[in-house]
Amino acid sequence: MTLRPYRPADCAQILAIYGPIIAHSSATFEVEVPSLNDFSERLARIAGRFPFWVAEDAQGSILGYAYATTHRERIAYQWAVETSVYVAPTAHRQGLGRALYGALLPSLVERGFVWAYGVITLPNDASIALHAACGYESFATYSAAGQKFGEWCDVHWMRYALNQARPGMSEPTFRGL
Ligand SMILES: CC(C)(COP(=O)(O)OP(=O)(O)OC[C@H]1O[C@@H](n2cnc3c(N)ncnc32)[C@H](O)[C@@H]1OP(=O)(O)O)[C@@H](O)C(=O)NCCC(=O)NCCS
Repeated sequence: MTLRPYRPADCAQILAIYGPIIAHSSATFEVEVPSLNDFSERLARIAGRFPFWVAEDAQGSILGYAYATTHRERIAYQWAVETSVYVAPTAHRQGLGRALYGALLPSLVERGFVWAYGVITLPNDASIALHAACGYESFATYSAAGQKFGEWCDVHWMRYALNQARPGMSEPTFRGL
């Protein structure tokens, strides 16, 4: 297994991992599987501004990915990011999620961000356990924060301190890998 930066040619394989989660799981609140074209534009936008890591096997199949995105648009929030990680079901529990976050978090530290937030729809024991294993701490649960498949879902927030928040801190660096 190799970890490397996202490339535009990865988009279809990533959608093959993410699409079924949109269609069948509340792990994402996205409800419609995007077209490959729209998804590709989205990933290009994200990977241009934030680190975006993929894990691939020796045959070039993508097994998982992790990236950061904007937490909230208002400029005062610019030191905070949300992080996401997805691993193909056939590759669960083999250390890929941990390895992907092991690459992602240092690249966010290096760019000067302060907080990485994990935003987890409940129930998702695997995601909570992975985030905790990577050093995130739980700090909030929003009750009935959203509805998917006709069910209200709670959303659990976890955070990882990337850098200490200091007065007069320089702006973080927005760049891909
Ligand atoms: C959450 C997810 C990314 C975990 O990825 P993974 O590659 O299977 O996780 P790892 O093998 O790296 O596990 C690292 C640690 O996390 C914890 N963990 C992971 N999956 C777990 C599970 N199902 N139950 C309990 N603990 C789990 C364990 O502490 C594990 O360490 P260990 O195997 O040494 O005990 C994966 O289950 C997934 O893709 N789920 C669907 C998408 C999703 O929910 N993404 C998160 C959105 S917020």
